[in-house]
Amino acid sequence: MRRSKRFEVLENRPVNLDGFSEEWAEVGLIAMESPYDPLPSIEIRNGVIVEMDGKRREEFDSIDLFIATYGIHIPAAEESMKMKELEIARMLVDVNVPKEELIRIACSITPAKLVRVMSYLNVVEIMMAQMKMRARKTPANQAHVTNLADNPVLMAADTAEAVLRGFVELETTAAVSRYAPFNAMALLVGSAVVNRGVLSQCSLEEATELKLGLRGLTTYAETVSVYGTEAVLTDGDDTPWSKGFLAAAYASRGIKTRFTSGTGSEVLMGNTEKKSMLYLEARCMYLTKACGVQGTQNGSVSCIGVPGAVPGGFRAIAAENLMASMLGMEVASGNDQTFTHSDIRRTSKLFMQLLPGTDFITSGYSATPNLDDIFAGSNTDCDDYDDWYVLQRDIHVDGGIQPVRQEEVIQTRHRAAKAMQGIFENLGLPEISDEEIEAATYAYSSYDMPPRNIVEDIKAAEKFMESGGSGINVVKALYDSGHHEEAENLLGLLKQRVAGDYLQVAAIIDREGRVKSALNDENNYCGPETGYVISEERWQELSSRENVMSPRDF
Ligand code: 5AD
Ligand code: CA
Repeated sequence: MRRSKRFEVLENRPVNLDGFSEEWAEVGLIAMESPYDPLPSIEIRNGVIVEMDGKRREEFDSIDLFIATYGIHIPAAEESMKMKELEIARMLVDVNVPKEELIRIACSITPAKLVRVMSYLNVVEIMMAQMKMRARKTPANQAHVTNLADNPVLMAADTAEAVLRGFVELETTAAVSRYAPFNAMALLVGSAVVNRGVLSQCSLEEATELKLGLRGLTTYAETVSVYGTEAVLTDGDDTPWSKGFLAAAYASRGIKTRFTSGTGSEVLMGNTEKKSMLYLEARCMYLTKACGVQGTQNGSVSCIGVPGAVPGGFRAIAAENLMASMLGMEVASGNDQTFTHSDIRRTSKLFMQLLPGTDFITSGYSATPNLDDIFAGSNTDCDDYDDWYVLQRDIHVDGGIQPVRQEEVIQTRHRAAKAMQGIFENLGLPEISDEEIEAATYAYSSYDMPPRNIVEDIKAAEKFMESGGSGINVVKALYDSGHHEEAENLLGLLKQRVAGDYLQVAAIIDREGRVKSALNDENNYCGPETGYVISEERWQELSSRENVMSPRDF
């Protein structure tokens, strides 16, 4: 066949490097509305749910049982289940229906019912509902800070820059897991250089992550995964009860906790019970709620390639974020993993959360170049800062981060690297040279850093942990090495753990060290001029650009 030149050009466009799939309900490759999804139902006897979504109590698996016992507000359930799904869908987009009323309904219906409500909404309606339903009024953002070499000096400098740009939660992990204590330390120190308000996590295997948290080396936990089928959930030696226990362990020590789940995980792990991705995610949401966790990281997260490959995938992902908000939980809404070669596609995906605003628009913006993102690369990374700023400026929307001046970034990175040098010396850890400080100050990626002696670092990290090293040791080392302001900032953060205010739903700590949560900064959107409105001062910050024409130039 003679080829069309147009088709030849199209074939070579980035979007055609992406993978796509037809729907295949039998293996769960279907975003929403699988013919095998159950119809909603409930039957309550003597205050006990004896039937839920077409299953009798005797047939319940552990997830059903957990949801039926702890995840549904039984006294209101019969009445809420009688409501028409279309009616609930219309209430979601009606600015005159308050958020609380919808939360009350969502908390007293079943997973199958909530999913059918979603199926009546198009994406614009989902975004309208998301704008009303998200927990916190002020939108915010979370970043990944990692590097290929686990270089602690670079990590502290990258942290400081990310905080300066406005990220309020930072997440790291380790390329080599035994480096983890230093990575956690780099996040504490790098953020204390800028302010006292940044929560940080080091995502690891649970026992180590819990230990770092209990020692005050991290302040939140997020990658506590749950799944929508029993076979997949128990594959990781977990039950709903063990997940709930873990969440309670974190929270009991002042560590902010959210679970992680998202469409596509059960498909990847090979057990969907033929259900749609969104239905399985609805089960995860009720399970999370039932564990008493304040929030979730969802929106497919690391599995985005799966819903991204089938028809209606982005709509389902936006709907799963909305389901979290409807259950009164904080949502950190994904956009944290690369899934496409197309800049148009990745931006369109982002818009569904950026435009309405969520509690954390990305649950992992890579504050480093793609090559240094140990979480497998994000939908947006440090190369995209200027695009993101221009989008905020073009659309008049607050995406949670703001432009910064180069001199300030250089100074801040330098201070962070110096502080690391100071505490390493004070704690008797391997030396950080002036050459490393200089390199970290101006670096683009870990390729710009002189190599460290990894064996020595790892040994020292282990010794630090064995000798009972904690967040307080870091405060003391900062103080004793002359970094008094940083020590004060970090101590302030550790005091917050004792107060526990940031355990409230959707809590963040602002630049001044004040906790903002759904309790004292509740999203109260109910139409124009309500909810979050960009202040004049914030607009100045968001819309400023160095490279811009001005009447003053003429
Ligand atoms: N479902 C459950 N857990 C997920 N994670 C990422 N995506 C999902 C998902 N769709 C968790 C995993 C992973 C970490 C980065 O986040 O625990 O290791
Ligand atoms: Ca994250």
